Amino acid sequence: METRTRAALGAVAALLLLAGCTSSVRGTPGAAGLRDPYFPKLGNGGYDVRHYALTLAYDPADGRLDATAEITARATQDLSAFNLDLTGLTVSGATVDGAPAAVNRAGSELTLRPRTDIDKGQEFRTTVTYSGVPEKITDSDGAGEGWLRTEDGALALGEPAGSLAWFPGNHHPSDKATYDITVTVPQGLRAFSNGERRSERTANGRTTAVWRSAEPMASYLAMVAIGRYETKSVPATGAAGIPVLSAADPSVAAKSAPLLDRIPELLEWSRENFGPYPFSSAGAIVEPTGDVGYALETQTRPVLPQNAFDVETLVHELAHQWYGNSVTPATWRDMWLNEGFATYAEWLYAEDFEDTPAQESFEEAFATEVNWAFPPAEPPTERNLFDPPVYERGAMVLHKIRQRTGDDTFYEILAGWPATHRHGNASTDDFIAYVEDVAGEDLDEVWDVWLYGDEKPERPN
Ligand code: ARG
Ligand code: ZN
Repeated sequence: METRTRAALGAVAALLLLAGCTSSVRGTPGAAGLRDPYFPKLGNGGYDVRHYALTLAYDPADGRLDATAEITARATQDLSAFNLDLTGLTVSGATVDGAPAAVNRAGSELTLRPRTDIDKGQEFRTTVTYSGVPEKITDSDGAGEGWLRTEDGALALGEPAGSLAWFPGNHHPSDKATYDITVTVPQGLRAFSNGERRSERTANGRTTAVWRSAEPMASYLAMVAIGRYETKSVPATGAAGIPVLSAADPSVAAKSAPLLDRIPELLEWSRENFGPYPFSSAGAIVEPTGDVGYALETQTRPVLPQNAFDVETLVHELAHQWYGNSVTPATWRDMWLNEGFATYAEWLYAEDFEDTPAQESFEEAFATEVNWAFPPAEPPTERNLFDPPVYERGAMVLHKIRQRTGDDTFYEILAGWPATHRHGNASTDDFIAYVEDVAGEDLDEVWDVWLYGDEKPERPN
């Protein structure tokens, strides 16, 4: 009897010891990067973000941001520690599931070590409290992104890697999540962001707006615009059935009004060609020239500087809502899938509204030498991600598919591709397989010559 009890106790002790051991040695640190071909350190391994709740307070007078990020994620491995990407700013504390976590920073990597390991499959909630003057990041191609100060406020946006200047996260397009973004600014200013505005309240000299993106979003598509905006809203009407809310800086509001008024009609035209609009709201932000050097397809509400606020660019940024925002590149190498489609949308607009057949746009692009600098699916470096071949030669690839398959199959592909990968990620290989499946034939010549070929073909057709 006694020996049996002792044996049983021993077994229990051994089990406890084993359990203790496994939970302390089992977890390993998540990777510090996702090995993107162009930005190997962007993103982090070991977890998958479900939701970001960002609470931002900004004062344009001193440029200071006081913020909290609450990140809900699911562990994809047993984790002893994990990284978030964050550039600049000062982290004053972090918790994981309510318990303080150890914080370490090295460059743009923020490492959090929770008090206890996180099991694979477990959902966990991280909070990071941070503040400081967020930075403007200058890309290798010279473009400015991150947190851009404007005359009356700020503009936060960033493709490919600006969002890590204003919130900690898994900043790679492959980890999409929903967002709640709450922004507090001095009374008199207003804050706009992606998705639906849930509330806007003023108290004690400060105005707080709460924005919600209920559909998954890649972090490079997150946006905050702070300033003295004039708004324009169109309730959910028309076949697209989407509420449209736009904001324009007062200095450009009158001039941009006629084109902003065309958004419902352009969405309707896009819907007919690309399939159902993938999000529950739409609109645009129009900035004075100089605030930002390019237009960007920030989710549901693209940002356009006044000097780029023309119908072609608007059509381009709206098309990105399907191509790029709903179906998002698996890595930055697949960028041509974004820009090729958005450029082709401009060619389709010219065909439908301006009597310029896409064939004509194609031949013009074919004749333009800068479009042949490199194959669209293989930009030589990250500096080239936004170069003409990605846009124009990307669109040429789509036109070749159209020439080979005919209009019926081509339009099926146009709407079917974003439908197949709605709110997901996809690669160039996924696209090739999808097109050949719908077409029912191999299109080797299109891929070998137009997508991957180094040489310009002798003839366009
Ligand atoms: N995707 C944007 C467009 O609609 C361009 C972004 C430019 N960004 C940059 N870093 N150069 O074409
Ligand atoms: Zn684009």
